[in-house]
Amino acid sequence: MNSVVAEIEEIFEKHGQEHYGEGVSQIEHALQCAYEAKAAGAQESLIAAALLHDIGHLIELEKDDEFGIHRHNRSGAAYLARHFGPEVTEPVRLHVDAKRYLCAVEDAYFGCLSPASVHSLEKQGGPMSEEEVAAFRAQPGWEEAVSLRRWDDMGKVVGREVPNFAAYRSLLSGLVAA
Ligand SMILES: [Fe+2]
Repeated sequence: MNSVVAEIEEIFEKHGQEHYGEGVSQIEHALQCAYEAKAAGAQESLIAAALLHDIGHLIELEKDDEFGIHRHNRSGAAYLARHFGPEVTEPVRLHVDAKRYLCAVEDAYFGCLSPASVHSLEKQGGPMSEEEVAAFRAQPGWEEAVSLRRWDDMGKVVGREVPNFAAYRSLLSGLVAA
């Protein structure tokens, strides 16, 4: 197996049983998000981003000071940037902002958020202002981040059976920068 993929798999093995919240573990959430991305016909880089979007939560558990930033989207994207290109890292980096974006532009979106997401929205700065929306849309990968965000919201089904991490090994290997 590719050593980067093995390293990532080990991170999930070590910390994947941590609580994501809302009754699912981190690994269950990651696998459900990747499954939704694949089912939606997303390209491989975005399926990988969906699988790995919350890896910042897991690496912060063991490498807390290495990145010096306690925002899981940034620490996750920084970790992934060692191995993957921007088509993987940017949707990860922007997935928290994508929630603030969707709350600003879609009236129905806020109503779909889980209680935990509503709670964290406040800490994350609430819905974007008009200026923030424009700035968000100027960033490469913003549309992919919005797609990722929707799968993120769907990936919280207790007890749902989806393919395991091994199903994504070759996809991830193919994306690791040479
Ligand atoms: Fe998530």
